[in-house]
Amino acid sequence: MKAIPRIAVLISGRGSNLGALLAAERAGRLGGTIAVVISNREDAGGLQLARTHGVATEVIDHQRLDRRSFEAKLDAGLDVAACDLVVLAGFMRILTSEFVQRYAGRMINVHPSLLPAFGGLYTHRRALAEGVRIHGCTVHFVTPDLDHGPIIAQGALAVLPSDDEQSLSARVLAIEHRLLPAATRAFCEGRLVIAGQAVRVEGEVPGITTPEVPALP
Ligand code: GAR
Repeated sequence: MKAIPRIAVLISGRGSNLGALLAAERAGRLGGTIAVVISNREDAGGLQLARTHGVATEVIDHQRLDRRSFEAKLDAGLDVAACDLVVLAGFMRILTSEFVQRYAGRMINVHPSLLPAFGGLYTHRRALAEGVRIHGCTVHFVTPDLDHGPIIAQGALAVLPSDDEQSLSARVLAIEHRLLPAATRAFCEGRLVIAGQAVRVEGEVPGITTPEVPALP
């Protein structure tokens, strides 16, 4: 029998995406088991969430370490947990190329925009300032090129005239909560094949091969 894939989730904050992953695991829809949650901030709300689910946690405070020591500790934490997949779920540290390359093809990230538009921070504010009509989120493989890795899944919504940064962020987040567990499951089931800059998905994966797109008016 094939071993159940082990997943490490890296967070920096409230951990609502982590919550969606934990709920999917509990419902038997994750395809793997969350072996460890690692945060670079000890005040990250997601840590408590992990603990209440009985998941091992580790804090590696980036403020107390230089980049090399931070990544060495992260590497060691991932190694101890023997993880097959690293999920960045609101992890707000930029990782070095060296580190990212070590996890090539087995590290994914959720980003709150339709990449390649609006990489980086303050995505909802910038989308509103640019007056985009369609906005959304992306789950992608992590590469050294920040927010530019092969795309696994995207979900979109129509920006409403009444939207502000908060409402837009909340509506996009709800899509993230569906996409990240679906992408994680597709990885764990071995359905994601990186082909150059793109990802081929083997078989039908609802939400990924048939993405959420806004209804036409
Ligand atoms: C999410 O919106 C995630 O897409 C974003 O941080 C938020 C974390 O929320 N990630 C990034 O911006 C990474 N570039 P959460 O802690 O509630 O999951």
